[in-house]
Amino acid sequence: MNAPTRVTNNLEAFWMPFTANRQFKANPRMFVSAKDMHYTTADGRSVLDGTAGLWCCNAGHSRPRIVEAIQHQAAELDYAPAFQMGHPKAFDLASRLVQLTPPGMDHVFFTNSGSEAVDTALKTALAYHRARGEGSRFRLIGRERGYHGVGFGGISVGGIVSNRKMFGTMLTGVDHIRHTHDLSRNAFSRGLPEFGAEYAEDLERVIALHDASTIAAVIIEPVAGSTGVLIPPKGYLERIRAICDKHGILLIFDEVITGFGRLGTPFAADYFGVTPDLMTVAKGITSGVIPMGAMFAKKHIYEAFMQGPEHMIEFFHGYTYSANPVACAAALGTLDVYQEEGLLTRAAELAPYWADAIHSLKGLPHVIDIRNLGLIGAVELEPIQGQPTKRAFTAFLKAYDKGLLIRTTGDIIALSPPLIISKAEIDDLVTTLGDVLKTLD
Ligand SMILES: Cc1ncc(COP(=O)(O)O)c(C=O)c1O
Repeated sequence: MNAPTRVTNNLEAFWMPFTANRQFKANPRMFVSAKDMHYTTADGRSVLDGTAGLWCCNAGHSRPRIVEAIQHQAAELDYAPAFQMGHPKAFDLASRLVQLTPPGMDHVFFTNSGSEAVDTALKTALAYHRARGEGSRFRLIGRERGYHGVGFGGISVGGIVSNRKMFGTMLTGVDHIRHTHDLSRNAFSRGLPEFGAEYAEDLERVIALHDASTIAAVIIEPVAGSTGVLIPPKGYLERIRAICDKHGILLIFDEVITGFGRLGTPFAADYFGVTPDLMTVAKGITSGVIPMGAMFAKKHIYEAFMQGPEHMIEFFHGYTYSANPVACAAALGTLDVYQEEGLLTRAAELAPYWADAIHSLKGLPHVIDIRNLGLIGAVELEPIQGQPTKRAFTAFLKAYDKGLLIRTTGDIIALSPPLIISKAEIDDLVTTLGDVLKTLD
């Protein structure tokens, strides 16, 4: 047998996700290693991680505790069937997680990604109502500009047009409430925007149109991330919760980016003091090291499924890799790091410094808004006429050349560094970004 050949200079075969493939393959940007706050590129440059990878490496990179947990687990028990069998770390992890979640969210269902966690939550909501004899509640309500991953469930309730328009009818029985982005009143807000709690009333409009008896659940991101960081106006989430309660509709918080310390509390539900009925997470659950996602459910939802003969499966749903042992070990190691280093609350301490730093970019060319919450920030740029996304994408390329990783959506630059970032690194990040913005046409 021939020895396998490694052809790293052949970039054609890999169809890259959410990437301008032709642009990338003409000018590749390769990371070959990472440590703590920095990546190293193939040409040996250090790049400051301004985005925690893709909002996921909350503990920073290549942390020994997590690496060792994975190595040990792979050698001890690499895989156990996820259906009708168990392994101790799945139960340890579930128990630890539900101690961290808001009170009442007592059960966790494991998935491998945020998209799967979202699908799981949508299916749980539908099946829950049916199990209680309210099968007429089949509608799912999302929000304009929402991002809930790329499964058919997620794109149906999601509200980003490019993620939806190519894919036919998607799920039926879905409607959307309006987004909350309002630069005319809230531009350059620090923290929660002052105006727009009344946008929650749009849910009453949708309910009046369809009737509450047909609606199973509303899904929203407490802080919308991938659409370009939309921070909820003061009082908005509380009103959404109250309307859902009034009409017997489940509220799902998609905490795939806000979970695990991003706002300075374990979850956004804690930050806002608003508890959903179902909550989805991924990314930070393993600090991005091994794919894993999860859905948390309130006790009464879990209990609604626990009926019928005991030998029967209660929920016909699950994945081959649900609670995969290596992923569980990675998550347990990650929780240890979060706990030992106080990372789930560290963003609260850094938030004022972070806010001052990123708002110092106000006044630079083309900047039409800056917003922040916890360790999230966004700089919105005026699009180039007739060439939307180009200005921010140019900023991304220039930042990379200058040793900074940022993320852009449309003409918005999103920032979400690992929660271990130092004040000096925040200064670095903002100085580099400022230098980039000054050079944009
Ligand atoms: C709020 C939200 N939900 C779901 C997802 C999808 O997660 P994944 O890419 O792991 O499927 C993301 C990913 O960015 C997200 O931000």
